[in-house]
Amino acid sequence: MIVEPTAATIAEAAAMLRDGKLVAFPTETVYGLGADATNERAVASIFEAKGRPSFNPLISHVLGADEAKRFVQWNATADTLAGRFWPGPLTLVLPRAPNSPIALLCTAGLDTVAIRAPSHPIAQALIRAAGRPIAAPSANRSGTVSPTRAEHVAESLGERVPLILDGGPCLVGVESTVLDLTTPVPTLLRPGGATREAIEAVIGPIALSDALPSGDQARKSPGQLDSHYAPARPVRLNATSVGPDEGLLAFGPSVPAGAMLTSNLSPSGDLAEAAANLFAQMRALDRPGIGRIAVAPIPETGLGLAINDRLRRAAADDGKTGRR
Ligand code: TXA
Ligand code: MG
Repeated sequence: MIVEPTAATIAEAAAMLRDGKLVAFPTETVYGLGADATNERAVASIFEAKGRPSFNPLISHVLGADEAKRFVQWNATADTLAGRFWPGPLTLVLPRAPNSPIALLCTAGLDTVAIRAPSHPIAQALIRAAGRPIAAPSANRSGTVSPTRAEHVAESLGERVPLILDGGPCLVGVESTVLDLTTPVPTLLRPGGATREAIEAVIGPIALSDALPSGDQARKSPGQLDSHYAPARPVRLNATSVGPDEGLLAFGPSVPAGAMLTSNLSPSGDLAEAAANLFAQMRALDRPGIGRIAVAPIPETGLGLAINDRLRRAAADDGKTGRR
């Protein structure tokens, strides 16, 4: 059920979380499918509802650094980054604190915890009212396009999620940046809403997970290897012309003609606008009558890193997504 967030519905949602139930809620990045991060059974029901094939670790959502220190071993770099980026779209991977109450399933057996403080006021109100950290992946069936509207959550998860708090469209539109602070040099595990350039301006050069041996990549960020964010239709990247059976995801002022349907991520070529529109427009083009989704080239700078990462995953067909 989709409900307006009011003091009463947020209190009801918080009571459901404490009771081990699932609640979908808005964050500034994408909608999350939340459960009490300290309750193993509640966390297990997230994997069940999403149909996640394996237990990829989940992000624990908190109000800020003071709270995070109860769950992870905090350090000076975390302090600097949280000071600059929290609340906001940056997830930090840190060693699990001794006696951390975070469910083992939430970290998929790793000795690290991914943690972030979202800036969305409804997410914050929910965490505060629940009085505990909230584990939340994106609120969609595994492998499909992430939700940036309450309706996307309802379409994807249906009855599997009893309550969806409707916060309108997500302003950032791509998931948080995941940064591993357990390596000698911080390692970017997933590009996202906090840009590499902005992070490096604060803490200096960071490493890219592509530089890790592939076995280490799988161990460090298990969720990053599968085909993800996949529409039902095939996706063709870097399209500078289009065929008549294609839907075009355009970017910028010059748009090739001839597509069956065109949706422009940002007519002015603004990457923040493009990120905010990305998943909703991918869904809109993924419809009967369209044979393939063609995507215009997007610059690899700033938020373009996260946008291109999601697009490459959408285009990667590893045979597991049941795509036509
Ligand atoms: O913006 C977001 O991050 C959204 C909203 C709801 O907060 N959440 C989200 O969660 O995107 P999810 O589950 O789709 O992605 C979590 C990512 C995965 O790539 C996972 O592998 C990684 O974080 N991750 C989680 N715990 C980790 C850990 N302990 N070590 C390394 N990577 C971890
Ligand atoms: Mg996801």
